[in-house]
Parts: sequence; structure tokens; C-alpha cells
Amino acid sequence: MSGWKLSRRIAALAPSSTAAAGRKAKALAASGVDVVDLSIGEPDFPTPDFVSRAGVRAIETGKTRYTDVSGEATLRDAIAAKYAREQGAKASRENVIVTAGAKQAVFNVCQALFDEGDAVALFSPYWVSFPEMVRLTGAAPAFVPTEIADGWHPTAAALERHAPSATRGVILNSPNNPTGAVVAADELERIVDWCAARGAWLVYDETYDRFLYEGRHHASAAALRPRYERIAVTGAASKTWAMTGWRLGWVLGPPDLVAAIGAYQSHTTSNASSISQAAALEALTDIESTASAVDGMLARYEARRRLMVDGLSRIRGVRCPSPEGAFYAFADFSALYERLGVAGSAAMCDRLLADAHVATVPGDAFGDDACVRFSFAADEARVTEGVRRVADWVAKA
Ligand SMILES: Cc1ncc(COP(=O)(O)O)c(C=O)c1O
Repeated sequence: MSGWKLSRRIAALAPSSTAAAGRKAKALAASGVDVVDLSIGEPDFPTPDFVSRAGVRAIETGKTRYTDVSGEATLRDAIAAKYAREQGAKASRENVIVTAGAKQAVFNVCQALFDEGDAVALFSPYWVSFPEMVRLTGAAPAFVPTEIADGWHPTAAALERHAPSATRGVILNSPNNPTGAVVAADELERIVDWCAARGAWLVYDETYDRFLYEGRHHASAAALRPRYERIAVTGAASKTWAMTGWRLGWVLGPPDLVAAIGAYQSHTTSNASSISQAAALEALTDIESTASAVDGMLARYEARRRLMVDGLSRIRGVRCPSPEGAFYAFADFSALYERLGVAGSAAMCDRLLADAHVATVPGDAFGDDACVRFSFAADEARVTEGVRRVADWVAKA
């Protein structure tokens, strides 16, 4: 760079490794190689038709103007109603702000709550963006390890052991990206009580709340708000309705937090897209069509999950627990690193891409260098082919 420099905040920022993995895969594919891309964190399904049509109708009827910065009142009501219906939570419009995806929701919550010098606890493995979002507020992430042997379950006991006593906030993601771990209802209560004892905020990211396997139920912190007020729940239409490109998410929290985020959004991004809001309103209020669309997609994810976990587990030296939710398998390859001559998960993923033509994301990006993340948001044939290539390559290497 000549004659100018980046701000300290941005210069210190680590670019998203999941995006980088996707870019490498696309570059190789563009050179003519048949790459099985299992690095992608987004549904491969189209947005359900009834939702897309609501978006088209919004354009055709001129709903193409600014909305209230916090989102249309009808949509905020529908989001509150979702939590009341599904979780028995007490929530109304004042508890909800609409954002441009869950990423912006978590980012804005962090901006509203954390300051220079604060410690914010993150269960590790964590979603790649959490540490950077915390750092961008001037606060420091305090990593709280979870263990593969315990299914990577987050616990209040781990917080007690690893988080500083002056922790200002805890970020919890369930179902978890990358491990698929789902927090149990009683453990969630213990975590909320741990936060309450310190006056810490719980930021609970439930972007994958509908992605649960083997009859599991989602425990939402939204239902615990009468127990403790300092809880911010973040969610999105992105994964549930395969709407990643529409950019539509939300925060559910106490009215004063929601108002503060509204003020922040009023000077930054303003409202989420009016067209996406209309589509999300349809998604959230046509409950029957949603049930049939989402159940259909879930059945497919369940089948892919089995193919992927069975296939990876059969590779000698690989440990691949069954994810309880979300759509990723987080597999421990570290027992093979020495034999394969790789120094860690980044080198492992580079080899998988270069030699087996399978794109994955290094566990290092999520705070666990022993593992590699495989997405099963790809069709059954590609999942089968990807796992076969990895197994063949490991056997021959
Ligand atoms: C845990 C988690 N939170 C938030 C997001 C971002 O979701 P959105 O696309 O709605 O911003 C993702 C996307 O991968 C995620 O994995």
C-alpha cells in the first residue's frame, strides 16, 4: 500500500476462512477440475416457492421503499409470535428488531453491549465470526473449550472453569456451527443462571433452530427471559427457508436493547430489504406451508448426514461424531496428520482440495486444529462422492 493505511480495527481483522475456502474451491473448479464442494455453509435448496412469490408480489405492488428502521411492524409481530408459539416465550413487537441476516444481528448486539476492556466468553469450537465481532467492539474473546468426548456440549461448569469472573457476556450458538452440538434445556438454564450471578449478557445464536436430528428439541433462551432479562436471541430466515441471499434475520431481546440497536441501524444500514421482509412475513405466517417445506428439506439433510458420518467414520484414524443439529460434520483427522505429512487442519484441507478435489474448511478457523468441517448441504450424490474421494486419498497417501 502506498501512502495510506487501514484503520487499526480493520488491519487487525482476520478475513473469514469459510469464505476463503469457498473461493479456493471456486478457483480450482474454474480451471476445469471437478471439485466436490463441501465447504459451503448454505442450503443447496431453492427458497420455497410460496416464500419467493411473496417477494415477487412485494416488488410488483411497490413495496420497494424504506420501511421502519427496525422492520415492518407486521414482521416484528410475526417473529415475536414464532417464539410464543414454539417456545412459550412472552414476546411482543418491542422485543424484536429485524436485521440483514443473523450475522448483522450478532454484530449489532455486540456493538450495543461490549466495550474496550470487556471479556466476552465464547464456547470453542465457535462460529468463525464471533471472535472478530467481539474484537471489533474493543472487547476480548475468552475461549471456553468444549470437548469432542462430551459431544462438544457447552456447560456452565466449563464457563466456571475458563471464563474470567468479570465476563460481560457469553456467546452461545445452538445448534452449533461447526460441531452440531445442541445445548440441553437444563444446561441452558444453568448457563443462564451462571450469567445471572454475574450480571453477564447471554447472546444466544439460534440460526439453525430448525435443524435437529433424531427427534431432538430446540431449547431457546427466549423462553428463559422471565428468569433473567439480559438475554439477546439472534435468528434468521437464511437457513430455515434456504434464504441466504435475501439477508433477513432478527434480534429478540429487552425493549431497551432493541431500541439501542435500532438507533445504531438508523445510522448504519437502516432497514433490512423491504422485499425480503415481505417474503419472511409469508414464511413466518404460513405455518402449514413452512412445515411441509422445512420437513421436506430436513428429511434430505438427515439422509445426507447419515451418508457423511458413516462414510467418514469408516476411514481408519478419523473420528466423526454424529452432529445433533445444523448441517456440518466436524471430523477429527489429527491422528492422520503425521502419516500424511500435514502440520495441521489448514494443510490438511489444502491437500484434500489439491489431491482429492474435495473442498472443506479447516477446524483451525473454528478454534480446533484437530478437525475438518464438512458441510452436508450438498446433494446425496455429491456427499457420497466427496466422502469416497477423501477415503480413497487417505488410503493411498
Ligand atoms: C452460527 C451462525 N450464525 C449466523 C450465521 C449467519 O447467518 P446469516 O446468513 O443469516 O447472516 C451463520 C452462517 O453461516 C452461522 O453459522
